[in-house]
Amino acid sequence: MVRSLEFTHRPSLTGRLEVPGDKSISHRAVMFGSIAEGTTTISRFLEGEDCLSTIDCFRKLGVVIEQNGSNVTVHGKGYAGLSAPKEVLDVGNSGTSIRLLLGLLSALPFSLTFTGDESIAKRPMKRVVSPLRQMGAQISGRDDGNLVPLTVEGTALKGIEYELPVASAQVKSAILLAGLQAEGETTVIEKERTRDHTEKMIQSFGGEVSVDGMRITVKGGQSLKGGHITVPGDISSAAFWLVAGAIVPNSEIILENVGLNPTRTGIIDVLQEMGADMDVIPDEGTGAGEEVGSIIIRHSKLRGMTIGGDIIPRLIDEIPIIALMATQAKGQTIIKDAEELKVKETNRIDAIATQLGRLGARITPTDDGLIIEGQQSLHGGTVDSLTDHRIGMTLSIASLLTDGPVELVNDEAIAVSYPGFFEDLVRLMAK
Ligand code: S3P
Repeated sequence: MVRSLEFTHRPSLTGRLEVPGDKSISHRAVMFGSIAEGTTTISRFLEGEDCLSTIDCFRKLGVVIEQNGSNVTVHGKGYAGLSAPKEVLDVGNSGTSIRLLLGLLSALPFSLTFTGDESIAKRPMKRVVSPLRQMGAQISGRDDGNLVPLTVEGTALKGIEYELPVASAQVKSAILLAGLQAEGETTVIEKERTRDHTEKMIQSFGGEVSVDGMRITVKGGQSLKGGHITVPGDISSAAFWLVAGAIVPNSEIILENVGLNPTRTGIIDVLQEMGADMDVIPDEGTGAGEEVGSIIIRHSKLRGMTIGGDIIPRLIDEIPIIALMATQAKGQTIIKDAEELKVKETNRIDAIATQLGRLGARITPTDDGLIIEGQQSLHGGTVDSLTDHRIGMTLSIASLLTDGPVELVNDEAIAVSYPGFFEDLVRLMAK
């Protein structure tokens, strides 16, 4: 579908907002609830299509899951309580679902087949299939098990020690989840720290995980117990309002209940270094064992910077919107060490450069990132999310700055992670 975005009167954005629940944590809450003993209740579950795909997969595995908006109840009967699905497990657009489930489900005593949409069909699965094969998993598919459809023949797994060749929380999590079902111990060694929601969630469900520097170890055969999970707001969704507040004149936005897990807050570090006028106010309590708090952002004079190295995994999903912010900063911004962007929902290096380029931004794609010229005036035009939710939201925020209307093709992709995005935009423009 095509959405017309016409904001030529340059609205400011003001008010308070709670962004929807965190996507990574919502997926994991359903996964752990499904393999735990007893009932798990989840509040502020993200009703985005990706997380609904995870629910759908577990229903096909025989788990009773009730979903009432953002309240979800999972009736877990333990790992052994999962039953052979009659259908293929379709993860839709969700890389997190397929990669984590390949790990989690490889030790079941029956076979499973995974598929997904056109974007998933291009995304590399070898990064999880290789270590899982080392653990004994039997996985086959196109391109020697790199591409869906993938079939898993259930087998017993054994623990391994594995050094991650890419900084990926999905790969780390797939191995740790397989490790929970494997014989002996499984250790993953990270080069750069990636989001640690899986480690935290194991603990929330009464399991043990040991973290020693960059070495993360789990023992197989642990029993997990259901409980209550309150999902914090998704900082990756909040990022769109943080940048919008900073670049749209006369704006002031208060975002409440945002997850502030330090493995995810690279966007806050970047905003601060670029000179954003903001306050971060941590709450006393936590949600799902994760730090939460409020963030106030005001329109700011920004300066360009170089972003690279070990901050990249802490803001990998925020790079599209950071690129837009950089078009409004003084001076050039260089994003490097971010080759992982090429294997996201789209090749985001190309998608950012071409689509923001259509609105007049001067962005040069490089092998591992982008070079973005600052202080660009943007004009109207037709752009395409290329079915990537974060590209779609970035282009929508860009339309707040253009001097003419923007037509956004494939706007429906935004529902993957933020179904109420346009309603929240209208709410912030209303004051
Ligand atoms: C995720 C990990 C990241 C991130 C994705 C969610 C997760 O992917 O981009 O949106 O929930 O573990 P990679 O592991 O590929 O970096």
